[in-house]
Amino acid sequence: MRIIIAKDYEELSARAAMIVAGQVCLKPNSVLGLATGSTPLLMYEKLVEMHRTVGLDFSEAISFNLDEYLGLPPEDEHSYHWYMHRNFFRHININPENIHIPDGMAKDVERECGEYDRAIHAAGGIDLQVLGIGTNGHIGFNEPDIKFEATTHKVKLDQETVTANSRFFADPAEVPRYAISMGIKTIMHAKRILLLANGETKAGAIYKTLYRGITPETPASILQLHQDVTVIVEESAAKYIQKNIA
Ligand code: GLP
Repeated sequence: MRIIIAKDYEELSARAAMIVAGQVCLKPNSVLGLATGSTPLLMYEKLVEMHRTVGLDFSEAISFNLDEYLGLPPEDEHSYHWYMHRNFFRHININPENIHIPDGMAKDVERECGEYDRAIHAAGGIDLQVLGIGTNGHIGFNEPDIKFEATTHKVKLDQETVTANSRFFADPAEVPRYAISMGIKTIMHAKRILLLANGETKAGAIYKTLYRGITPETPASILQLHQDVTVIVEESAAKYIQKNIA
């Protein structure tokens, strides 16, 4: 595991964007696993900037998003479809046919999940998976006590996650309680993983992820077993790990 402490959010985002850009430059038809949330926002902005200024080319790239709320249509501004299009896809030259996000309106959720995993497999697997982390150590929407062997599936969101994500909704009662998420097994099959953590609220989760036992109580701790993980931690999120890497 490679751990990079970034001095601030700007540096975290610049480094993350360089890693994603490097992946796409070296392998233009890369399969990218993408994340939402506030953490990767500036990384997306920087990738858009690289697309505009130095022609970073996404025309052959394929994307699979980690998760989507159940019950929100793509045009709902709280959906992850909307987030991805507004913050990234509409500003770059990715082929819309190569974009994959779980369908939050799927009638047959189990089937949607199975098809999502099959599509990842058919694309050759994920080359680089970008991850944020929840305050409770979740990745994607894999909440504490998740089964590590899970593939893409329906999840019930923890109260802690509902509360954390309610900042994006006018009325906390509107926060969906269920989502579709890639499972830990799907995530662990990615060839490379880039985990990003920004802000002091993530410090505890990052410490447990990197330095405590591997346990379903901290879903991200399973990443200790992955062979190619880069973790970029902004200074305040790294406050409990400084000693360990000194
Ligand atoms: C959500 C997403 C995760 C994300 C997490 C952290 O619950 N499902 O993929 O990593 O929130 O979000 P933020 O970056 O806004 O703290």
